[in-house]
Amino acid sequence: MILVEQDLGTPEPKRASRHEPQRTVELTVDGVAVAVPEGTSVMRAAALAGVDIPKLCATEKLEAFGSCRLCLVEIDGRKGTPASCTTPVSQGMSVTTQSPKLERMRRGVMELYISDHPLDCLSCPANGDCELQDMAGAVGLRDVRYGYQGENHLDLPKDTSNPYFTFDSSKCIVCSRCVRACEEVQGTFALTIEGRGFESRVAAGANGNFFDSPCVSCGACVQACPTATLTENSVIEHGTPRKTVLTTCAYCGVGCSFKAEMQGEQVVRMVPYKDGGANEGHSCVKGRFAWGYATHPDRVTHPMVRDSIDQEWRKVSWEEAIQFAAAKLKDIQARHGRSSIGGITSSRCTNEEVYAVQKMVRTAFGNNNVDTCARVCHSPTGFGLKNAFGTSAGTQDFKSVEYADVILVIGANPTDAHPVFASRMKKRLREGARLIVVDPRRIDLVRSPHIEASHFLQLRPGTNVAIINAIAHVIVEEGLIDEKFVAERCEASDYQNWKSFISLAENSPEATEAHTGVPAKQVRAAARLYATAGNAAIYYGLGVTEHSQGSTMVMGMANLAMATGNLGRDGVGVNPLRGQNNVQGSCDMGSFPHELAGYRHVSDDTARATFEAFWGVKIDSEPGLRIPNMLDGAIDGHFKGLFVQGEDIAQSDPNTHHVQAALRAMELVIVQDLFVNETAKLAHVFFPGTSFLEKDGTFTNAERRINRVRPAMRAKTGKQEWQAVCDLATALGHPMHYNSSSAIMDEIAALTPTFAGVSFAKLDALGSVQWPCNDQTPSGTPIMHLNKFVRGLGKFTATPYVPTEEKSSRRFPLLLTTGRILSQYNVGAQTRRTKNVEWHREDILELHPSDAELRGIHDGDEVTVASRIGTTVLHAHVSERMAPGVVYTTFHYPVSGANVVTTEHSDWATNCPEYKVTAVQVFPGRSGATIELDQPEHRLSALVRMANQIARQWSADPSADAVACTARHMESFWEHEMRGDLTRAVEAGSVTVEPVVNQAVRRLSAHLH
Ligand code: SF4
Ligand code: SF4
Ligand code: SF4
Ligand code: FES
Repeated sequence: MILVEQDLGTPEPKRASRHEPQRTVELTVDGVAVAVPEGTSVMRAAALAGVDIPKLCATEKLEAFGSCRLCLVEIDGRKGTPASCTTPVSQGMSVTTQSPKLERMRRGVMELYISDHPLDCLSCPANGDCELQDMAGAVGLRDVRYGYQGENHLDLPKDTSNPYFTFDSSKCIVCSRCVRACEEVQGTFALTIEGRGFESRVAAGANGNFFDSPCVSCGACVQACPTATLTENSVIEHGTPRKTVLTTCAYCGVGCSFKAEMQGEQVVRMVPYKDGGANEGHSCVKGRFAWGYATHPDRVTHPMVRDSIDQEWRKVSWEEAIQFAAAKLKDIQARHGRSSIGGITSSRCTNEEVYAVQKMVRTAFGNNNVDTCARVCHSPTGFGLKNAFGTSAGTQDFKSVEYADVILVIGANPTDAHPVFASRMKKRLREGARLIVVDPRRIDLVRSPHIEASHFLQLRPGTNVAIINAIAHVIVEEGLIDEKFVAERCEASDYQNWKSFISLAENSPEATEAHTGVPAKQVRAAARLYATAGNAAIYYGLGVTEHSQGSTMVMGMANLAMATGNLGRDGVGVNPLRGQNNVQGSCDMGSFPHELAGYRHVSDDTARATFEAFWGVKIDSEPGLRIPNMLDGAIDGHFKGLFVQGEDIAQSDPNTHHVQAALRAMELVIVQDLFVNETAKLAHVFFPGTSFLEKDGTFTNAERRINRVRPAMRAKTGKQEWQAVCDLATALGHPMHYNSSSAIMDEIAALTPTFAGVSFAKLDALGSVQWPCNDQTPSGTPIMHLNKFVRGLGKFTATPYVPTEEKSSRRFPLLLTTGRILSQYNVGAQTRRTKNVEWHREDILELHPSDAELRGIHDGDEVTVASRIGTTVLHAHVSERMAPGVVYTTFHYPVSGANVVTTEHSDWATNCPEYKVTAVQVFPGRSGATIELDQPEHRLSALVRMANQIARQWSADPSADAVACTARHMESFWEHEMRGDLTRAVEAGSVTVEPVVNQAVRRLSAHLH
């Protein structure tokens, strides 16, 4: 059955606070009594009373417009027939929606519309799903007195420029719903009504077609259109859908809810779901239209094995693939020890699938060598927020942004990477909230239609901590601290230490200007705005976390929010915009080598005992290996086998050559994925994965919202991914059986206090819940830390700025930073297999005109980008978005391999790679400036960097497990890789680093023993 949501005609009136009770107004509609919130329209009140008033220009998602005159009503004591959509209710009002006079008037309106509308209903793609058709029926239209011969618009041409929808102007009734949807819901302002009167027409951009206009293909106009004028091409191709499956988008961390509208197992269209908590009925081009990859011919749906990566794949049964993999894993462990194998979970997969993999590693593999792709994106978020507040998650729900007075966006590009949340944010900005953007790149948000940042702090890459310290310095210096909040809610001694630290002159905007490049005056003004404007909310992304000081920066933002009392209510908070659909979930599920589900450390005897009792095994109390340690271990020769779930580490992780070398060095790589990706090319076993349209489970989005993912079709592989993992664990000697993914969630709930109240039945009943969800908060927790922090008192931490060691030099004078583009997604495995490629066919290098001119580079030229690690070739886009000295690219295409040039620097606490700062040189053409990857000097500098990193970690937290891991890594790197190089280089008189290295190794040995 198709799920049709009721459209109440006009939006709910905006409330000053969602926690205060609303004043209500009582009225009658056709004699039915109804009480509604003050400010409600008569149309909405009638709908709530069960009375549908005919309408065409009104829809619940848009402000009332009052143009079609179909919704006229009579109101006792008032003259005329007001439009019910634009008339607010008042106490005691008595409304009549049906009378002979109203019928006559409505029929007259419909006659005018229909006299200029094609009469091809039977062959129209919207037949049966058309509000114009419905309204003709509702008003009893039987005849058109004006005939069809007059001047009309029936010959207007179609615009088919957009790959996903068609604009058939001949069917347009000029209700303006599309124009208003583009403005009010999406915030792009791509459409206008051109001309007047009879000549009025919808126009897209100056060039007149959708593709060349500023349209971002979000689909809001298509959804708003009451006729077949704007129609999805998939509906034109397949016809109207027959049933609905409610599910969740599998792209970004916004986690939009969708109605998958189906004909059998054919998706006809994906329609954003009005009751979706994250998106409230909106979508972006990826979730709305880019689902074709799920049935792309490149998909592999059968298991495959091979003995060596030089051989062709052999197609085998599931049974054979599982036995093959299990036998090899057992053999490796027998020869190289229990710790010689591990697994990587995927933030693309469901909670239940992730949980199964980490459980397999901890039970059947018998070690804690499990890590997740969150390692390379938001691991500093987990570390920093847990340190400050006690929970490894963002503080707010998305709705909270509607109550913000100041929005501070740091290192995030929401309009490209989190588009639906960006639309919600832009709406609030249009309502008057002020905006501060901190970013090396002039992102769209800085200036877009009807939005302009009050302050744009265009800092140098790698100087986030300096700028957050400078902002905090101003707040302390100028007495803008919320002393009451700090006294009541935070640890006093930590606060005093932090205050002394942040007051140091070295943290002043004047002192940090030398690092950041941002004028002190601008920083001071931004700090005052953040601290004084009421509700101030921080939103941040990978531009914060993917740095050598990612964790420091997260703590710096937490300090700032605590110091100004911007936590624990609507409109405030510290909010990570998570990259992938289930980053939050994959971390929650115990994917890190040191944490069980619910962020409980493996060394915690009580937590371990709970899991041991449930799982029937002993769990190692020592943290296992992180991804970088596994890869280094493979090169060192002691790590031999890896299970990779739905993640393409050979493309997405930094220093691609190193990752590839590590994968080649392993005896067994098992990849579970939809496609033979770059990692699978170096694998021995391929387990075919399921697309989100086949999965049954849950994703957890950036606001901790657990959403259901429901299967719209059968698994094309014959197995759910968790079933394959259970089978492998069983073949390894640890039986794992579940009757359904719901049973896995029951186990998660039984073992994880923050999930104790979560079940599929509850999710089906409530739609979604935000964890913590347990006995205390059975319906979930939209906003965290309301009256006290999860850790009790909030913890201030001093955050000294330590410049990254990745510095520009004479040889590599530019700093490269990376990001995403709207139409593509991460490594592009999905979006590259959709029509989204029409917008973005390759990764491009953006550089400032002065840097381009200096090098003789023109827009569109091919250029070579060289770093200390490697080189790649891209096309150049000359753009003033970048500051001089900074260049930018995306990493969606394996062919350009942007990560070939990114280095192995990483966050001191979590090893999250420093993707956002790489010193590079750019040459015109495919120049001969190729870096010798094996040059001893590069390897030596890598060793020195590691030595420094260890030194930093020791001074920051001598007990961190990271120290031991990195130290082990360095020791073995020294032994196996460097000693010969260094000796030869020193003998040749070209290196002076030996004392540094020797000292580091001595300290390291002392620490380990
Ligand atoms: S395209 Fe559709 S929504 Fe836009 S004005 Fe025409 S009928 Fe209305
Ligand atoms: S698809 Fe979205 S951005 Fe494009 S015109 Fe429609 S509403 Fe505007
Ligand atoms: S914003 Fe993110 S979750 Fe929503 S539709 Fe777009 S990609 Fe999907
Ligand atoms: S629906 Fe009220 S005027 Fe169009």
